[in-house]
Amino acid sequence: MIKLGVLTVSDRASAGEYADRSGPAAADYLRSRLVDDWTLLQQIVPDERSVIESTIRELVAEECCLIVATGGTGPAPRDVTPEAVESVCDRLIPGFGERMRSAAPPSVPTAFLSRQLAGSLGSCLVVAIPGNPRAIAECLDAVFAGIPHCIELLGGPRLVVHDPVDPGH
Ligand code: MTE
Repeated sequence: MIKLGVLTVSDRASAGEYADRSGPAAADYLRSRLVDDWTLLQQIVPDERSVIESTIRELVAEECCLIVATGGTGPAPRDVTPEAVESVCDRLIPGFGERMRSAAPPSVPTAFLSRQLAGSLGSCLVVAIPGNPRAIAECLDAVFAGIPHCIELLGGPRLVVHDPVDPGH
């Protein structure tokens, strides 16, 4: 069974101060794009670099082939998701961040503040996006065409999408 991870990074959601809306939005997005032959592993953690790193490692150890991390990508002192992803990954894949930032809607002039990024850890693709629920579909839409192909190139399983795109070769 294919496993996908969704990791919500938020001090307040992890403390129960408010309901997590980002993780469910990311999960809904994956359900909308991927044929349902996978299981979801969901985690909520505070904005603590060591906790984010160890949770990503755990999800990889559980054989997730994709981890979508949401939240903690901004420039505030507690926003450390990009640092955690960068230190845990074997390699970064800069096109993800480039695509997501350039696809930001003009109606959100602050969108470029998000330090979205992606990298690989073994055959797992880790993608970090902002926590704002509206940003989640916008960011994932910008890169989704490359996600299944990237996972295959990393040696992971074949994700079946509802609307396949030609990888271009
Ligand atoms: N992108 C979209 N599409 N919509 C948003 O509301 N918020 C921005 C940016 N990107 C936003 C967005 C803001 S204000 C910040 S600080 C960053 O995402 C980081 O958000 P995060 O810290 O929740 O990850």
